[in-house]
Amino acid sequence: MNKYLRMIGALFLMLPVLSLAGIDQTIAHYTPQNGLGFSAQRGDTLWHRKNTAKDGKERDCTVCHGDDLKKPGKHIKTGKVIDPMAPSVNHKRFTDIDKVEKWFLRNCKWTFGRECTDQEKGDILKYLSQF
Ligand code: HEC
Repeated sequence: MNKYLRMIGALFLMLPVLSLAGIDQTIAHYTPQNGLGFSAQRGDTLWHRKNTAKDGKERDCTVCHGDDLKKPGKHIKTGKVIDPMAPSVNHKRFTDIDKVEKWFLRNCKWTFGRECTDQEKGDILKYLSQF
């Protein structure tokens, strides 16, 4: 068997491992800071916490992602449809750590006016993983 064929073989062997990558692996990327692990309840509170922006309007994560995580959301500024956040209906959700980090950065800043901590990211992902 030549090198090329062996490489193809190895790629096929890796496929099941790659498809296992999911929200739990993403959560494992973060380290809890409070010694208690991550909590879906704290994540729920953060997801729904209302913050008053400079324009006086209230913001939380649902203003774009909607109230039903299994349904599409709608971007509050652009009106663009956002695919459902629930991993059970959208299997690509939270499987790419670079994407997760990019949007946590952008959305925490916009919604809370600051970056989220690793603890908060883990709590929020734990909450979202239930859907
Ligand atoms: C202003 C609109 C808006 C708000 C508010 C918002 N998001 Fe998002 N979010 C988006 C968009 C747009 C995407 C990227 C499109 C997509 O993934 O479908 C996204 C994607 C994400 C992702 C990446 C999902 C993935 O598949 O990896 C995470 C995590 C996320 N948002 C968390 C949050 C959290 C936490 C909050 C509240 C602090 C929040 N978002 C508030 C618009 C928003």
